[in-house]
Amino acid sequence: MMRYKVVFASRTGNTELLAKKIYHAIDDPSKDIERISSSTSAFDADVYLVGFWVDRGTCSPEVMDFLDSIHNKDVILFGTCGTGQDEIYYNRLTRMISGLVPGDNRYLGTYLCQGKMPMTVRKRYEEWLKDEKMAARAEYMIRNFDEALLHPNEQDLDCAVGFVHRMLEKCSLSGGRELNTKE
Ligand SMILES: Cc1cc2nc3c(=O)[nH]c(=O)nc-3n(C[C@H](O)[C@H](O)[C@H](O)COP(=O)(O)O)c2cc1C
Repeated sequence: MMRYKVVFASRTGNTELLAKKIYHAIDDPSKDIERISSSTSAFDADVYLVGFWVDRGTCSPEVMDFLDSIHNKDVILFGTCGTGQDEIYYNRLTRMISGLVPGDNRYLGTYLCQGKMPMTVRKRYEEWLKDEKMAARAEYMIRNFDEALLHPNEQDLDCAVGFVHRMLEKCSLSGGRELNTKE
């Protein structure tokens, strides 16, 4: 019997929302959910669903440490970041963070969506507006910020569930370790 564990880091609640939604969507009683701390075990499940928030272009240090401790498991990643639908950036983040999963695991895939940021960030962009050279960039960042306030929304959460169901199907179909989606 497979055991599933959702673990996550979340500073302002966006990734926690995703984590709880994903946990409830796992259609198996053998499941657990835990916020990552230094005592979070990477031994008590077969499939780890690891949630991160994007911190300066990668995941936060506690997620890095946790990923590093996972061995010989199936690993699914999900996360939120302030940047909206930007395929190139999302691909870069995916490569960067999935690259932290030790190679003896079976990495299945990453789901990313936008998440709201604190108002202090908008205030910073508003300051940039005063500088002519920065104004165009500031307007772009403010538009992105305001869009982020609406996320994660119901659609983001539903897409996360769809993604996890597809990934778990891959786990149960392939059973063995021949599957390798790492790019
Ligand atoms: C210190 C800090 C650094 C961040 N760095 C990035 C970043 O590099 N790229 C990005 O798109 N969003 C960045 N964000 C935005 C967060 O990733 C985003 O708001 C995320 O949804 C927060 O998730 P949480 O609510 O689970 O903590 C940053 C936020 C903070 C507070």
